[in-house]
Amino acid sequence: MKISNRKYEHLKIATKYPKQDSYTGFEDVLLVHEALSNFNFSDVDTSIFFIKENISMPLLISSMTGGFKEAEKVNRRLAEAAQRNLIPIGVGSIRAAIEEKKFIKSYSIVREVAPDVPVISNIGIQQLVKGGVSLAEEAVELINADALAIHLNKLQELIMPEGEPNQSGAVEVLREVIRKLKVKVIIKETGCGISKEVALLASHLKINYVDVGGSGGTNFAVIEGIRAKKIRDVEKLELSKKFSSWGIPTAISVLEAKSVGGIEVIASGGIRNGLEVAKSIVLGSCCAGVARPLLEAAIKGPKFLEKTINRFKNELTATMFLVGARSVEELKTKPYVLTGTVRDWVIQRKLTQS
Ligand SMILES: Cc1cc2nc3c(=O)[nH]c(=O)nc-3n(C[C@H](O)[C@H](O)[C@H](O)COP(=O)(O)O)c2cc1C
Repeated sequence: MKISNRKYEHLKIATKYPKQDSYTGFEDVLLVHEALSNFNFSDVDTSIFFIKENISMPLLISSMTGGFKEAEKVNRRLAEAAQRNLIPIGVGSIRAAIEEKKFIKSYSIVREVAPDVPVISNIGIQQLVKGGVSLAEEAVELINADALAIHLNKLQELIMPEGEPNQSGAVEVLREVIRKLKVKVIIKETGCGISKEVALLASHLKINYVDVGGSGGTNFAVIEGIRAKKIRDVEKLELSKKFSSWGIPTAISVLEAKSVGGIEVIASGGIRNGLEVAKSIVLGSCCAGVARPLLEAAIKGPKFLEKTINRFKNELTATMFLVGARSVEELKTKPYVLTGTVRDWVIQRKLTQS
């Protein structure tokens, strides 16, 4: 199947299958209410510095789409919202545009419409091991991006009928990309999370950001399973069922990655409200990425998208007021309590905040 058709199928299935969301670990992260703080609700400032700009809140529109006709409209709406709200935005894997130039516009529209916010390009590690630094440079130049997210998606590549589960040479190519690329580099999972061991490797490689892409949100094992069923690929379908709950839940993955020093962590995977954005910041992330809820809202229309982003902001601001944090920097210092699976995991894996 052509990449453009595959990308279209991903979007269709992801937004039509509402029951993907599961345990992210945020259920077991409790914030501590602060009944008395010496400031007003209107004093709460959610802005932060991210990649190269001040942004209005620690919310990133995660990498999603591009590479087929309808994607241009969706990316335009997402980019308009990013520009209006001053929040960063990623595009989906740019491979489709590199292979079929007619699809460049479906990605470059983002930079055109959102000139004042960080724009993040995206490519898979399995493409990078073949294409090397020049592919990374092309991915950035095509859309004049401020950063490149390199996605790691072993599970999806295993289940996807056209998958390429190849990572041989990945470390060497990452080292080279970091050395030569003129923009910031993010490594990013897409639903299975990042462990402390991988975060440590990323830190040694001097990768700028780790986006944990933990489990509990959009589930590519399920999405690829649906695609495998359609073409009666029984083996892939079985694999999809066995591994549909594989991965490190998002909140736990943030704690894993944050136990390593020297790396900025982005929380993503199943983040569905501003309270969870706040929890991810308290656990040590610099910001939180949200994908499917914003995609669904963008498809419904710009008004729905605006409403969803406003809801995230209101919930985040409310949480900051309730825990007594005037700024995102203050939010990072607030106490939290871990229960259940998250607590057990932290103890057994001996995770401590660096
Ligand atoms: C339709 C769709 C397409 C996606 N395509 C990409 C992609 O090309 N590259 C990537 O790094 N992540 C991709 N993702 C993964 C998201 O960036 C994000 O990591 C994941 O969806 C978890 O976030 P969520 O639970 O908020 O959706 C895609 C997600 C969706 C919903």
